[in-house]
Amino acid sequence: MQIYENYSVKEHNTFMMDVRCARFVCVEHPDEVRQLAEHGVFQSEHFILGGGSNVLFTQDYTGTIIHPVFKGMEVLEETEDDVLLRVAAGEEWKQLQQYCLQHQLYGIENLIGIPGLVGSAPVQNIGAYGVEVKDTIAHVKGLRTDTLQPFALSNAQCNFGYRDSIFKHELKHKCFITHVIFRLSKHEHYTLTYKALSQELDRCNLQPSLQNITDCILRVRNSKLPDISKIGCAGSFFQNPIVPQAQYEQLLLTTPDLVSYPADNGRVKLSAGQLIEKAGWKGRRNGDAGVYDKQALVLVNYGMATPQEIVSLCQQVIDDVNKLFGVTLAPEVNIL
Ligand code: EPU
Repeated sequence: MQIYENYSVKEHNTFMMDVRCARFVCVEHPDEVRQLAEHGVFQSEHFILGGGSNVLFTQDYTGTIIHPVFKGMEVLEETEDDVLLRVAAGEEWKQLQQYCLQHQLYGIENLIGIPGLVGSAPVQNIGAYGVEVKDTIAHVKGLRTDTLQPFALSNAQCNFGYRDSIFKHELKHKCFITHVIFRLSKHEHYTLTYKALSQELDRCNLQPSLQNITDCILRVRNSKLPDISKIGCAGSFFQNPIVPQAQYEQLLLTTPDLVSYPADNGRVKLSAGQLIEKAGWKGRRNGDAGVYDKQALVLVNYGMATPQEIVSLCQQVIDDVNKLFGVTLAPEVNIL
């Protein structure tokens, strides 16, 4: 493993915040997680950082940041129908997408373009264009950092929900994910329920295929989301709020064009981007902190924004949406 002291994480967070941490540890092999645990690293202040695409650092971090860099993909089992693929936590999500494209494996094609590492994917159950990663996860493996016991959780045991899993609740700060085991289909099967995707296929006169879906989604994403290599941001800053049916019906009286999706337990998921846009925030800037002009769900650092400016912008957006709709937006981004 590599250990750095007083280390700037600027290159390790897509908001490009130039803050320092007391110690930064690159974990190069899954066995090193146990060594760290035995040295008590997980008993002191620490944070496990994947690709840094869902985090906003607001100040220097006084503890240890642990960053998996170990990679690897291994077929554990193959049948006529599917492949069980074990992927290391430090593998980049885009490498897994590349592998699936090369080997004609189906299931995660709609998740193309999502930044970050494979180990982070189950934590917030990444999702896009009608697909969530939970639909392809068989198991998640790692080490309990409180008991030092290895764990292997089945899909059902992960308690996946919209942008949610056991790793954000019962197991928060209690485990280190080392591997995700995916079950990927060998049969062609696509999810085309999402309008933006089917419209783009139609517009380009393309039949669904792994390559065509990949290309179309990347085009749609690039038209709406900032290029994180140029503009600091962390993708969707807020979760789409889920409200009771009665509240949704009440809101429809004043906002008949409210975008909605069915959610669990008869509830309704609203589009935070639409609420923010209706609250007048789309494209607005406070200095270098802004609400992206093509997708209001995304807060951006146009260059020199301080973390405090982003946090204050976030609060103003929450307050105004609350005043207008009585809905409280929750950040999806980890604010540290
Ligand atoms: N909308 C607006 N104004 C906006 C943005 C959106 O009115 O500024 C409306 C759109 O017209 C559309 C609806 O809201 O009817 C949904 O918008 P979009 O399709 O862009 O998706 P989203 O709900 O804003 C979610 C994910 C994204 C994912 C897209 C595509 C969350 C928090 N975000 O965004 O994930 O790429 O769906 O499936 O669920 C991410 O997590 O970083 C991320 C980008």
